[in-house]
Amino acid sequence: MLSHCAKRTNRRLVAPILIRKNHGQAPGSPQSSSRTTSFGFRTVPEDTKESLVKDVFDSVASKYDLMNDASSLGVHRLWKDTFVSTLRPGRKGPIRCIDVAGGTGDIALRILDHAREEYADRETTVEVVDINAQMLGEGFKRFKKTMYHNTPQVSFHEANAQELPPSQFRDNSYDLYTIAFGIRNCTSIPAVLKEAYRVLKPGGTFACLEFSKVNNPLLSTLYDQYSFSVIPLLGTILAGDRDSYQYLVESIRKFPCQSEFAGMIRDAGFATGGDHDGGAWTDQWGGVACIHTGVKV
Ligand SMILES: C[S@@+](CC[C@H](N)C(=O)[O-])C[C@H]1O[C@@H](n2cnc3c(N)ncnc32)[C@H](O)[C@@H]1O
Repeated sequence: MLSHCAKRTNRRLVAPILIRKNHGQAPGSPQSSSRTTSFGFRTVPEDTKESLVKDVFDSVASKYDLMNDASSLGVHRLWKDTFVSTLRPGRKGPIRCIDVAGGTGDIALRILDHAREEYADRETTVEVVDINAQMLGEGFKRFKKTMYHNTPQVSFHEANAQELPPSQFRDNSYDLYTIAFGIRNCTSIPAVLKEAYRVLKPGGTFACLEFSKVNNPLLSTLYDQYSFSVIPLLGTILAGDRDSYQYLVESIRKFPCQSEFAGMIRDAGFATGGDHDGGAWTDQWGGVACIHTGVKV
């Protein structure tokens, strides 16, 4: 597919991150995958990315919420609020949602709160799915303090977004599929989208909140300076882990731009709005983050 995005530069402003564990076959060894993918600014064999990403989130899980607030100065909360309120869960009655790469449950909690506060809906459900048990554990602990704990409204499931077990996540079974700041960490975006399409009911909505491309050159420069200098430093100070936050910043720059990602969503079979801001996607803060939606037809 032709991309309408301006060419991205992979600026390496600081040293490349290190692999901290032995993840099996060395690149180039006879058994290692010949296909490669990006892990931040590094190119790695496709079959190693999942464990590298797992290491990142194992390392950050206990500090994830604190770091999110610190690194975005709390702005991620506004984006998440906007994301959920534009989806209006509960407006047409209780719905069945799946929040993939749901981590510590930020989106799930907002979906349930929105349905309850706006529509007095206590029957909408969210299944939080994540590949990382530690992130889910943090989410579970957090939900224990809410009214949703021990109710059928929320449940936690360890699974890979690229291959949701069909016996557990059945075809045509959800009204809403959400994924926030998760899809860029997955090895194959088309595989995630294919699974999203499979599990949604016809007419169901796919919604993704992700970092994206900042189009304003001045904002883009400021944002780059902030991201590459402040965020890894905060990672060091607050979480004792610079490498993981360096990866998270780099992975944002490697993610497809708005129109390219919208094309991938359509390639998976979803109908989207037109190829512009306010159509297939809605930029947040000039494209620092972006909401993409599609409907299963
Ligand atoms: C940046 S966190 C986002 C968490 C949450 N959605 C939020 O917005 O706060 C990304 C999450 O994606 C999860 N993840 C990465 N690869 C995944 C995969 N292949 N399948 C499911 N979850 C994955 C990570 O474990 C992590 O919890």
